[in-house]
Order: sequence, then C-alpha cells, then structure tokens
Amino acid sequence: MIRQDVDLSRANTLGLPCRAERFLATDDIATTRDALRQAVKRDWPLTVLGGGSNLVLQPWLPGLALQPSFADLRFEEVGEGDVLVHAGAGLNWHALVEALAAKELWGIENLSLIPGHVGAAPIQNIGAYGVELADVLERVYLLHLEDGREAVFDREECGFGYRDSVFKHALENRVVITRLVLRVSTRAQPRLDYGDLAARLPAKPSASDVVAAVSAVRREKLPDPTVLGNAGSFFKNPVVANEQAKALLAKHADMPHFPLADGGVKLAAGWLIDQCGLKGLRERHVGIHERQALVLVHHGGGSAGELLALAQRVVDKVQARFGVTLEREPRLMGRKAR
Ligand code: EPU
Repeated sequence: MIRQDVDLSRANTLGLPCRAERFLATDDIATTRDALRQAVKRDWPLTVLGGGSNLVLQPWLPGLALQPSFADLRFEEVGEGDVLVHAGAGLNWHALVEALAAKELWGIENLSLIPGHVGAAPIQNIGAYGVELADVLERVYLLHLEDGREAVFDREECGFGYRDSVFKHALENRVVITRLVLRVSTRAQPRLDYGDLAARLPAKPSASDVVAAVSAVRREKLPDPTVLGNAGSFFKNPVVANEQAKALLAKHADMPHFPLADGGVKLAAGWLIDQCGLKGLRERHVGIHERQALVLVHHGGGSAGELLALAQRVVDKVQARFGVTLEREPRLMGRKAR
C-alpha cells in the first residue's frame, strides 16, 4: 500500500531529516509494476531507495519513493565448486555476506559490514579490501521504471568502474533492481593483500575468519551509522595524471598513491583531507570523523544543506592546497523544500 507523507529520517544512515510525499516498500513484482504505472500516469517523480546508506537526502522527496524489499535467497550449484547465489534486492548486504561465509562460500567475505541493501550494491559497485562487487557479479535483474518491463543485465552491461556503473549514468533513476546473481565458490580463495589483513588471520582462515577480521578493521576506522550518522566515504579517491602525481610526490614524498593500469594514479582522499588539518572538525551539527577524514558525520539536528556546505569547504581546501578536485560519492536526492 502506498503511504502518504512518510518520515524518512530513519531510512537514511546519515539520519538527515526528510519526508517522502509517497512511499511504498514491496516484495511483490505485480505491486511494483502497478505502482510504476500509477506514477507514470500521474506524473509522480520516482525515487528508488535501498538501505539509504549511500545517500544525502534533502528535506523533501516529491512523487513516489519505492523501496524494493524482495528477500528471496537461493543457491544453485553449477559445477567445479562454483555456486550461483540468487539474492533479493531487499536483503541486508552484510547478512548476505555472513550467510555465505557460514556455508564456507568464498567471494564476498572482504565486503563485510558494508551497510545497505543487496540491490544497491551494483549502483556504486561496492568495494573494499581489494575486492569489488564486479569481481563476483553474474547478473542483475531489474524493472524499467517507465513501463515495468523486466530486463537482465550481465556484468559487461553493468559498465562497472571504481565506485561506478551504468546505473549512475545512462540508467540513473530509470530502473529498479530486484535481484542479483553472484558467482561464489566452495574453494577457499582468501584475498588478504590489503593493509594488515593477513597479519590478523591464521595461515588458513575460514571465510568466517575473514569476515570477522574485515569487520574488526572497519569497526576500528569507520563510525557505526546506528551510533553516528554517516554514509561511509563521502568522496571518491581521486585519479590524477601521472605528471600531477609526480609533482605532488616531489613535495609530499609520503603521499599514498596507487598507479593504475591506464597510466593514471589514484590518490587517497582521506590523506589529502587529513593533511589539510580537517580530521575531527566539528561545525554545529556536522563534522569530519576523527579516525577517518574521508567520512563526513551528522551529529543530529542538522540538515543536508549544512552537510553539503561542509563538503564544499573540504573540496575547496583540498583544491587550494593540492590542486586536486574531490568528487562526492553518495548520491544526492530530493529537494530543499516542498
Ligand atoms: N589516510 C589518512 N588519513 C585519513 C584517512 C586515510 O592519512 O584520515 C590514509 C591512510 O593511512 C592510507 C590511505 O589514506 O594510507 C588510504 O586509506 P584507507 O586504506 O583507510 O582507505 P580509503 O582510501 O580511505 C577506501 C574505500 C573504503 C574502503 C577502504 C578499504 C573509497 C572512497 N573508500 O578507503 O570504502 O572500506 O578503502 O578498502 O574508495 C566507502 O566507500 O564507504 C568505504 C568505506
């Protein structure tokens, strides 16, 4: 049932105040299609919400906010130890990670404790500790918002890049993802190159050991959104040309940098912000996390406007000091006022 004038302040991990003109959470394809038809007929703008963990919600969401809550989970053995996992878009991502690890299925254990729903994972191609969703994604099932028709995308069609996909470009706000199919394996394949992960684990860790170690690292560095409002990394790690990286390294020899295959160099946004002395900054209701400069936090009582103003100050400072332009990572949704 479509509800009217719904409070979404608890439906986004930043805890920003927002009301949706209309809201529907459903795990039924026919109901979803019916809502899409109504929206088109009545000219309601459509917004698809997942777990709200990668969003900056402005105070007013006009039209219809649709939250897919498909929670089906099915395993299909396809030989040579490979298993296809069919997972509904409304499942909690970390619950899926734990469910696979409990079955000793390998593939997404490094993506532990990432907040949000399964259906949102392909949009930004979630990634952490040397693994990204694109490494395991087989197919995405979706409905087109304009007419409710179903489509199935394979990995190629998703156009994945670093924190990027076709769902942020040609298909932005045009589809609702209903289910993912992931290819995982019964064969142990720990990927422990990142940071001190290997040092925290026994020689032959189980998938659950890796989940526990990654979760511990994240808890040390990243604030728990149920305690302190945040949307994870607020900026992408910027990629600059090799010449610019060289010039910066001449001045800052200790600058973290990661050369990419295409000749560019990825820098650590957190380090750049930290160097500007901004870590731990608090301005009224918003601030920069004290242990990770890449995470903007909302202490409560603030607004999207305040947070975006702080983000702009961060962008300006990093630009002035390093000549590097930071790009926002979470998606901006809604309007400033009714
Ligand atoms: N650094 C600082 N100061 C800080 C933060 C980082 O000096 O305040 C330095 C670190 O010492 C390190 C480098 O910057 O040398 C990179 O930091 P880290 O390894 O913590 O990773 P990150 O680049 O800050 C990225 C992802 C995270 C992901 C981790 C681990 C992005 C935008 N962020 O963070 O993803 O968990 O790597 O793989 O790519 C997210 O997207 O929400 C997220 C948390």
